[in-house]
Amino acid sequence: MNSRPSHCPGSIAFIGSGRLATGLAQAFAAGGAAVTGVASRSHASAQKLAARIPDCKALDPQQAVDAAELVFITVADDAIATVAASLRWRAGMAVVHCSGATEIAVLAPAALAGARIGGFHPMQTFTDPDAALASLPGCTVSIETQEPQGGDAAPLQTRLEALAAAIGCRSIRLPAGCRARYHASGGYASQFVNALMREATTIWSSFGIGEDEAIRALLPLLKGTVAAIESAGIARGMPGPVSRGDAGTIRRHVADLGQFSPEILALYRELALRTIPIAVERGSLDAEKADELRRILASLD
Ligand SMILES: NC(=O)c1ccc[n+]([C@@H]2O[C@H](COP(=O)([O-])OP(=O)(O)OC[C@H]3O[C@@H](n4cnc5c(N)ncnc54)[C@H](OP(=O)(O)O)[C@@H]3O)[C@@H](O)[C@H]2O)c1
Repeated sequence: MNSRPSHCPGSIAFIGSGRLATGLAQAFAAGGAAVTGVASRSHASAQKLAARIPDCKALDPQQAVDAAELVFITVADDAIATVAASLRWRAGMAVVHCSGATEIAVLAPAALAGARIGGFHPMQTFTDPDAALASLPGCTVSIETQEPQGGDAAPLQTRLEALAAAIGCRSIRLPAGCRARYHASGGYASQFVNALMREATTIWSSFGIGEDEAIRALLPLLKGTVAAIESAGIARGMPGPVSRGDAGTIRRHVADLGQFSPEILALYRELALRTIPIAVERGSLDAEKADELRRILASLD
């Protein structure tokens, strides 16, 4: 009798054994899926990941495809097309990449052979392979699939949603054709925060406090903001002088930052202007006050 959970009906292989694959492959195996093969550009790298998973072998890429029912292509985005075009696929199997920004049409060579194709993108960042496993639970996985014409296998979408659930993730269905825009949106909760922290710490350096100390001071504020968004949402969770309608404070910010750095003032203005409609939505700023803040930020008052 097969004791594997029903969400894991066939064997899974990975091609590419980097940061994402290290987390995902281990999580699938821990969730009861049969991750039986790993291939990569270098055999040593494939062996390193295979050694972390019970009953998993380091294979060459074609062996991995031939032995699996579901293949995850987890190479760098720019290498997905080359890998997909270089392997022999077969009808009935499934092939998935994990790139947020790459359309699943890049897997056309597999679709032409009759395989089901898809995208399985966790909205999370994996920098340290050892920490990747722990960072998956609670993430959202964006899933997109394409079935072959007249295919009668169980839908790939259903299987991928079950796999996401088995590793503690939520899933959403991504419509075709929106992946670049979808992936760009992630930057606002990721690297753009780094850019904003750099702006803030540059301001601190102007009064003689270095980046490390500034980060220590600002991080609790950042965490408090994230917690407020989590509990109250974007509008009700927004702090700051715009949300309070403090025109005098905004006026002082604009005057002082203008003397310090026109570049820093330009971004401050743009961001502060974007917070005005949020404060109006929050109900803490009326239309008249909103206009006053807009004029101050445009340096018209
Ligand atoms: N890291 C993240 O935060 C993250 C988050 C969500 C989605 N993703 C997506 O996950 C995918 C992998 O990203 P990653 O960050 O894990 O990349 P990575 O750490 O750079 O790992 C890429 C892996 O692909 C292998 N590889 C490269 N070219 C290959 C080829 N031609 N044939 C076989 N293997 C090849 C590399 O092999 P060797 O090790 O053998 O050199 C390496 O193991 C990308 O599509 C990325 O967009 C990443």
